[in-house]
Amino acid sequence: MIVTTKKLFEHAYGKYAIGAYNINNLEQTMGLFRGNLMSKAPFIIQISKGARAYTHKRALEGLIRAADEIFPEAIFAVHLDHGDEQTCYDCIESGFYSSVMIDASHEKFAENIAITRRVADAAHARGIVTEAELGQLGGVEEHVKVSEADAKLTDPDQAHEFVEKSGCDSLACAIGTSHGAFKFSGNQALRFDVLAQIQDRLPGFPLVMHGSSSVPQEEVERINNAGGSLKGARGVDANQFKRAAELGVTKINIDTDGRLVWTRVHREYFKDHPENFDLRPPGKVFMEEYAKFIAGKNEKLGSAGQLDSLLGRSVPGCGRRRSTTSCRSASPSGRRGGRARCTARSTRPRPAATSSSSTRRTRAAPRSSAPASPHTGSASPTPAPTRPSPSPRRAPASRA
Ligand code: G3H
Ligand code: 13P
Ligand code: ZN
Repeated sequence: MIVTTKKLFEHAYGKYAIGAYNINNLEQTMGLFRGNLMSKAPFIIQISKGARAYTHKRALEGLIRAADEIFPEAIFAVHLDHGDEQTCYDCIESGFYSSVMIDASHEKFAENIAITRRVADAAHARGIVTEAELGQLGGVEEHVKVSEADAKLTDPDQAHEFVEKSGCDSLACAIGTSHGAFKFSGNQALRFDVLAQIQDRLPGFPLVMHGSSSVPQEEVERINNAGGSLKGARGVDANQFKRAAELGVTKINIDTDGRLVWTRVHREYFKDHPENFDLRPPGKVFMEEYAKFIAGKNEKLGSAGQLDSLLGRSVPGCGRRRSTTSCRSASPSGRRGGRARCTARSTRPRPAATSSSSTRRTRAAPRSSAPASPHTGSASPTPAPTRPSPSPRRAPASRA
């Protein structure tokens, strides 16, 4: 079931982070759904502009719709990763995505706000949510390479004004990570001090950590032993995810690690079976290995095992399930309606407001006047995402 990230973030805030995984093809899609169900985790599927162009944007939508039918228990958001303004509008108009990221982080502060505001308004009019970025990560995205020296950490003093004026629903922060398999090439580290200051300015507001692959050394070694050449590849310590979650990070982006699993499986398979030229045997191994990888990552994120609590427990005498999520859209066959849901909302604790590249790789129909919200299936619009209080620096300690 496709949901917006709003419900996922409300459930996760301060406790755990949701894994946001990039996909490009069928094998990744199947492994992703299996791994998340194996570990009973809600998740976010991320689609980059590059992924949309790889085969066809509609092909990816078809894969995800099929997986949603094959795995009806899955609860996930479909998110555009690092979108430009035009791609955001395309995804918003598609009626398929439940979340878009507008990445105008390379623009000046005022322009970043202006672009993000336009996208957020367009997204909210269709009941979907927007992630924006302030600061700039190092690494490679869409063939644009930003050296770690040129990367700019998010300025905590700008964070409140940015969120307030841009209308974004979550904020990607640059706190020392970079995209790709070659992170922390100097003496950089994850800047929890900066993250704590951002949370201090935006209590209760969902933060996002990009560039969070761990680049496991055993994976790199296996790739190199099977003919690869990844020298000095390094990533984020996954044992730090929970600390980041406590400081308000509700979404952690992981792409490179999945590519490493793919590379290791295929290199080893063809090294061990030089006579083979069939794509299916390694593809099968990859789907299994990717599912295991996702399940393991969700343990580190703390999202493993959260699905039941997110869906709610049986309500005595009701015979239906309480849900903190609402269905994004009914399938044409109407089978979505089969998921028993009670309109009663479970009581959740309010979010705690604790203050506390290098080179990657060789690397919906128009709105009518009284629209049914695609996310609630009802005529009432999705409630406006919570914003920080207009008072500068110190917003109320908790939010609904
Ligand atoms: O940050 C970017 C993501 O890892 C997507 O990478 O643009 O090569 O699909 P991509
Ligand atoms: P990695 O390159 O560390 O996997 O980061 C992915 C990412 O941030 C996607 O937006
Ligand atoms: Zn990213």
